[in-house]
Amino acid sequence: MAHSPIWLATAIDIVVRAGAIQMAERGEDLEIDKKGPIDLVTRVDLEVERMCRETIAARFPTHAVQAEELDDGPALADASHVWVFDPVDGTVNYAHGLPMFCSCLSLEVEGRPVVSAVYDPSRRELFTAERGVGAWLNGVPLRVSDAATLVDAMLCTGFPYDVHQTFDEVVGLFGAFVSRARAVRRLGSAALDLCYVAAGRLDGFWEQRLNPWDLSAASLVVEEAGGQLSRFDGSPFDTGCGEIVASNPKLHGHLLSVIAEHAASS
Ligand code: IPD
Ligand code: CA
Ligand code: CA
Repeated sequence: MAHSPIWLATAIDIVVRAGAIQMAERGEDLEIDKKGPIDLVTRVDLEVERMCRETIAARFPTHAVQAEELDDGPALADASHVWVFDPVDGTVNYAHGLPMFCSCLSLEVEGRPVVSAVYDPSRRELFTAERGVGAWLNGVPLRVSDAATLVDAMLCTGFPYDVHQTFDEVVGLFGAFVSRARAVRRLGSAALDLCYVAAGRLDGFWEQRLNPWDLSAASLVVEEAGGQLSRFDGSPFDTGCGEIVASNPKLHGHLLSVIAEHAASS
């Protein structure tokens, strides 16, 4: 399928403008609200999402937007073209002044991302991807790592916002990987974690109970960098499935074995 060059340019434009807002307003009074006991939203999440929604409505009036903080509107159910946006991925980091956050945007056509952009303004790192064409960091092509064993692998995960209730399950699996891998990290931005798998900085990532806006843009970056994606049981990934295992192809089966062993023993 041919992709309009305007689509990727728009994704880049919006995430870079999002980064400018995030950087300008960090350290200000962020008016932090709680959506749950440990799930935060700031004034900046809302401001950035409004900017994205207004930009898409002006440039692509027939397209819909699915994003984290505001009402998607009735157009979402029928639209063939949906922009999937997380205004701040890593909001808890952002609210605490920890410079590990980003904004991420994809355009999904018939449910599959075709272009995406993820921007980390603290490092000025722009990850982009176009289906069937490639993935890039600041314009340089990306390739996943080739680590083939867990003991040679740097892995990463995230903890869902219900971790206080699901502690045994989440931390049990974390422990299973800690006991086998070279190292396991928890950085606090699922989209950047996935982009780091694409860049070969991390060898693998897993997380459950994620939303399409956490997964859509960065999963395309991993795929286009030669990475492998699946659900926890090894079945095919899609951006609405809520969970992901992402790694280089040599490691994927090893990650799935640890998950299956852990599930069988718990
Ligand atoms: C969260 C981050 C975090 C992950 C959570 C996500 P948010 O997104 O990606 O790393 O562990 O599951 O919900 O709330 O900062 O957009
Ligand atoms: Ca997120
Ligand atoms: Ca968010």
